[in-house]
Amino acid sequence: MSEDRDGVPGPGSSPEDGADHGGAAGSGDHTAVRGDRFAGGPARGFMSSLAADDRIFAADLAVDRAHVVMLAEQGILDPDEAGAILSALDDVAAAGHGSLPDGEDAHEAIETAVIDSVGEAGGRMHTARSRNDEVATCIRHRFREDLLSAAEATVALREALLSAAEDHADTLMPGFTHAQPAQPTTVGHWLCSYESALARDTARLLDAYDRTNRSPLGAAAFAGTPFDVDRERTAELLGFDGVVDNATDAVTARDFLVEGVAAMANLATTLSGLSTDLIGFARDGYVDLDDDYASTSSIMPQKKNPDSLELARATAGDAAAGLNGLLTTLKGLPRAYNRDLQRATPHAWEAVDAVTEATEIAAGAVATAEWNRHELAAAAGDGFSTATGVADALAMGGVPFRTAHRIVARVAELGMGGDYGAVKAVAEEELDEPLETYVSRETVEAAMDPASNVAGRDSAGGPAPSEVEAAVDDASEALGADAGAVEDRRIALESAENRLDAAVSEYV
Ligand code: ARG
Repeated sequence: MSEDRDGVPGPGSSPEDGADHGGAAGSGDHTAVRGDRFAGGPARGFMSSLAADDRIFAADLAVDRAHVVMLAEQGILDPDEAGAILSALDDVAAAGHGSLPDGEDAHEAIETAVIDSVGEAGGRMHTARSRNDEVATCIRHRFREDLLSAAEATVALREALLSAAEDHADTLMPGFTHAQPAQPTTVGHWLCSYESALARDTARLLDAYDRTNRSPLGAAAFAGTPFDVDRERTAELLGFDGVVDNATDAVTARDFLVEGVAAMANLATTLSGLSTDLIGFARDGYVDLDDDYASTSSIMPQKKNPDSLELARATAGDAAAGLNGLLTTLKGLPRAYNRDLQRATPHAWEAVDAVTEATEIAAGAVATAEWNRHELAAAAGDGFSTATGVADALAMGGVPFRTAHRIVARVAELGMGGDYGAVKAVAEEELDEPLETYVSRETVEAAMDPASNVAGRDSAGGPAPSEVEAAVDDASEALGADAGAVEDRRIALESAENRLDAAVSEYV
């Protein structure tokens, strides 16, 4: 009998871990499936997933209930026996995962507990199914919840970004390429750039959700069953949008995990860029993170470090590890079920947990950050970052852009950026004509001013405050739709839960 099952060992957990959690050797380990013959020996703990199955304990109980209800509805199971099994499942649920008897996995342990409680008739619960379709259903049942939580975290982060963008549509800041001052821009535009990326992350998570939310149940081991099962009914009771049709595909497929974790890896990559930018902006005094999202040094008393964002950035490693773990575990597996699949699943849990938490933390850090308008405005024109605007002004006056680029490049080389006299002198040397023939002094000087330089860049998707305000409006509308799409799926799952409860109550 195992004691503590709270810890969920990762894919790298040692056989010893497993032995503590339901794989102890010895002949006292008789279970429903393994009997006495497959009960002991040194490999028992290594083969067990009982501890890790804590993650799918609730899912497994739901799957058991739906299956038993369907068997009764189909006349495969006597209603009284169904009622006894369903009551026993309630007791198992109330006692919790930590009270399960020994077993190779949660599926077997729950069945053992049911048989212990109901007697031989409890063994009818496993009619017309296998642990193969059962576990695949449990994983999808749980993973879809995790995908919704991840999608909700992206929605929260997008809300924080858009609300800050609204406040800072006209807050100037330096923009960078190659980490060098490039062109002045607005904080609102920078914030919206991440919101746009995160909108795609939300979409990818919802796509993954829709392919995850299909029921394998009723596929049995891989080859169907002679019992007259109603797969659509169990799918409906469990809130799935339909079934995974082919029975062999149903038990084998884990591509939904790859897809979901790939979406998490993309999301984590977005987060890592956001974190790196914010860490740099905090260093340069452009933004102050709230103390809640910072830490300090054990020796340097003045330090305020952006640790939460560094850790958020690091979850890109967890996501990449999870994706790699899944792909390498799944590669080359033959049809149909192979036990390798047991070690695939924890990679998904770890990746989704790490990145979802990081997304929630990033949302809090963005929502509470203070942008220092003064420092930002002062730095916006650093490094003659208005140079492109000056070249554009010349080109708009009729100077070929390449010539204008050459003129402004010479001014920059002289270290005279921002000096109208220098632009005029170099331009007239290159053009052999007065600069005013092309462009007025006011226009050139306006281009040298970071605020009007940015305001002029009002092309679609540009950083001009007017464009940023419009972008925030559009993005807020799309965000509302995405939040609704996530909410709809949550509500559908909740009503499925109620449907299942109501169906169960017909028998208990
Ligand atoms: N613990 C197993 C897993 O996670 C459940 C399925 C076991 N099936 C089997 N044929 N041994 O994949």
